[in-house]
Amino acid sequence: MNERISALREQFEKRLAAIQSLQELEEIRVSFLGKKGLVTEALKGMGALSDEMKRTLGKETNELKSMITVALGEKLEAIRQLEEQRQIDQMPDFDVSLPPAVEAGSYHPITLVQRQCEQVFRSMGFTVEDYSEVVTDWECFESLNIPKFHPARDMQDTYYLENGQLLKTQTSAAQNAIYLKYRDALVKDGVPIKAIFPGRCFRNEATDACHENTFFQMEGVMVDRNISISNLIYFMKTMLSEVFRKDIRVRLRPGFFPFVEPGFELDISCLICGGSGCASCKHSGWLELCPCGMIHPEVLRMGGIDPEEYTGFAFGLGLTRLAMMKYGVADIRDLNSGSLVRLSQFVDDVQV
Ligand code: DAH
Repeated sequence: MNERISALREQFEKRLAAIQSLQELEEIRVSFLGKKGLVTEALKGMGALSDEMKRTLGKETNELKSMITVALGEKLEAIRQLEEQRQIDQMPDFDVSLPPAVEAGSYHPITLVQRQCEQVFRSMGFTVEDYSEVVTDWECFESLNIPKFHPARDMQDTYYLENGQLLKTQTSAAQNAIYLKYRDALVKDGVPIKAIFPGRCFRNEATDACHENTFFQMEGVMVDRNISISNLIYFMKTMLSEVFRKDIRVRLRPGFFPFVEPGFELDISCLICGGSGCASCKHSGWLELCPCGMIHPEVLRMGGIDPEEYTGFAFGLGLTRLAMMKYGVADIRDLNSGSLVRLSQFVDDVQV
């Protein structure tokens, strides 16, 4: 075989073995079989050869050309298959054309009731405020008329940080900040303060079916001229009927909280036992759901509001208890259990 032809064949085989992509394959094709390719080059100067040699060289060149063409074709197919396999390997393990999984996650029952309450209060003109979980002694106690060494502090032991701050025991801890935030609008522009502030609270407590060290409340305040207990009762009734969507028995009785005067306990008849008494309601048939009252003048004053001109009400709705009652969760500890089997079964009629 002609030396140049066999050198070309060798060169081609070497390069063919090394290629990985379709692009390289095309480059090789052009460089060997193209108009100015190596095979054409090899035939240059053939004019000087004898007829015999020309014939042999021509034949060998054609054989080389068809060998290259066949080899390129086979390589093309091999690369295509490899590429296809690579794409298959990269595909996720599930069938993307299937309809979405039925279990797409669910809201926690407390989130559900929180959003419902927010909807109800928003529709009545309340703003929804966010507040931190770590607060100062002033926010959680002093500004709520609970000075140091006041016996009311005993009811709310909590977790203290080394810097003296604490995990808030009650959403009431945001009251002072809310008064200061909206006081100017109230006094200068006559805009009533109407705000709710849901949040997580903490207490250093032994846990049982109706007590947890971590639970949720939703505080609400309204301050304006001439706000009275009737306003308070109206808003509480509206909220409860919207959230439960059925008649529930409610009772209002006096309750002591240093930041309201007068203060009330708003109880609902226990929906777990129907009022006959169970572990969820401490066997009383009633559940303290929403303590409330008229904001103490001193608390308004500390919030920069003149209690001679303005009055207001405040309430501290137990969101965790509300979720228990609404969804029939008998043990409060289930709500913090993280058990998806238990927590994912609550879907609500209300869009949240
Ligand atoms: N912060 C009180 C608690 O956690 C509940 C409470 C009582 C809030 C009366 C209020 C209120 O706003 O007026 O025990």
